[in-house]
Amino acid sequence: MHWPGTTPRERIRAELFGSYWRNDLNDVFADVAPYYDQANIVASLGLWPWFLKHFMSMFALRPGLRVLDLCAGTNAVGIALLKREPGLEVIAIDRSEAMQAVGRRRAAARGLHIESSIGDAHKLPYPDVHFDIVTLQWASRHLRIEEVMDEVRRVLKPGGSFHHCDMLKPANPRIARWYFGYLRQCLDLTAWLFRSGKAALGCRNYFIEALDQFYSAEEFSALLEKHGFVEVTHKRLLAGMIGLHRASKPAAV
Ligand SMILES: C[S@@+](CC[C@H](N)C(=O)[O-])C[C@H]1O[C@@H](n2cnc3c(N)ncnc32)[C@H](O)[C@@H]1O
Repeated sequence: MHWPGTTPRERIRAELFGSYWRNDLNDVFADVAPYYDQANIVASLGLWPWFLKHFMSMFALRPGLRVLDLCAGTNAVGIALLKREPGLEVIAIDRSEAMQAVGRRRAAARGLHIESSIGDAHKLPYPDVHFDIVTLQWASRHLRIEEVMDEVRRVLKPGGSFHHCDMLKPANPRIARWYFGYLRQCLDLTAWLFRSGKAALGCRNYFIEALDQFYSAEEFSALLEKHGFVEVTHKRLLAGMIGLHRASKPAAV
């Protein structure tokens, strides 16, 4: 399927945020790593575990599946998956050593094993057709997402599935305006509560602008189809403020 408009949007995103992604974002996550999980509970008014529950309901798991959690952060997804199916092999990759250090401690505290690696989602250090499942939660806005989707498709086995959850841009502009206003207040509150450092304080405008330039749930589904995924489905939570996607790499013919 050809979907005109995607590539210009990616160019605009890269022009606006490319330097920030390369030079600043890692410092932001080094700053927030110690309080990332608590801040999300506060900012979501306690809804964070409910989002994860919805996300988990979109997985079909069985022992022996090999899972890659992209931009794994503090390992929320890997831990939730292993709690549901302890027989999975879970590999986490993230560019932030600080976030993964917290993630490794969280997994160990629960007696779970998640293989941890530090690396860039745009150039995955894995062979072709290696994973049954790839997941990406709360990170797609920070990526050159079309490039990453090509990488995801490369490392997935035929018939393997990709699962995505993120804050997305609500299609309704009035809801989007309200949402961005709310997020601005939230970022101020969490910065004050958790005594954010300079890097995290400096990300507040980026955080809203990156969301404003991002995709709606429907647009993200179209992007997945454009990148060769099939059986693409999505769920919208809170009028499209949160989007959850599931898509498959076509089975071999
Ligand atoms: C908001 S956190 C999400 C963490 C986790 N997925 C979760 O569900 O809580 C975004 C994560 O994406 C990571 N990240 C951002 N850009 C990345 C890149 N180019 N490659 C790998 N990880 C990246 C950050 O280091 C951070 O840990």
